[in-house]
Amino acid sequence: MPGFAHFDPTAKGLAAPVSAVIRGATHDDLDPLAAFKLAVVTRSRDDWADMIDKSLEDDRLLLVADVEGEIAGFAQAHFLEQHSVDHGPEGFYLTGVTVLSNYRRAGLGRSFTVARLDWIRQRADEVWYFANADNRTSIQLHLEFGFEEVRRAQVLHGVTFDGGEGILFRASLDSGASREEVHARP
Ligand SMILES: CC(C)(COP(=O)(O)OP(=O)(O)OC[C@H]1O[C@@H](n2cnc3c(N)ncnc32)[C@H](O)[C@@H]1OP(=O)(O)O)[C@@H](O)C(=O)NCCC(=O)NCCS
Repeated sequence: MPGFAHFDPTAKGLAAPVSAVIRGATHDDLDPLAAFKLAVVTRSRDDWADMIDKSLEDDRLLLVADVEGEIAGFAQAHFLEQHSVDHGPEGFYLTGVTVLSNYRRAGLGRSFTVARLDWIRQRADEVWYFANADNRTSIQLHLEFGFEEVRRAQVLHGVTFDGGEGILFRASLDSGASREEVHARP
């Protein structure tokens, strides 16, 4: 499936260790963010600038992984109202994570998820996430955080899915990984 990372349960990460700082995005990150080639959406530099400005509000988050000055990935979370048409539930959602292909399988996706769950845990006791049913890599990444399938749909929060089906997941935030774990594993 174009844009998705090849699902391989056996492959491991980078040969060399990666040490990343997971931090909020700033306007200094605009050029690298605008250079990301995204599978599902197209975002201009202005779109990113708008997202960075909005990420200063309390109901949304935009993180980057800074590897010695290189932006190796980004991840978002935000609050969504119940969708008036497809009835996607109201709540805090993990709304997208992308890691540059040469930094994949080194723990950055996991670090982004830990950091976003810590942020949501301060605001809610549950978290939502949805993915294309064919994106097995994304689904595998999220399973270890306790996400359970709620329902399958052609449209979720207005998003349609290449191949036709998305899966809505929910997790309780009673327990989980701690804030100290937000750096990529050595
Ligand atoms: C999904 C994505 C963000 C994962 O990022 P990552 O930094 O490579 O993920 P991590 O290294 O933190 O992997 C954590 C766990 O996820 C699972 N996983 C990650 N990549 C995998 C792959 N290619 N195949 C199978 N499982 C995988 C594994 O369980 C992995 O743990 P392990 O390495 O100890 O086995 C990355 O593949 C990506 O950017 N994909 C394209 C964009 C995308 O589909 N985003 C999700 C949209 S909902």
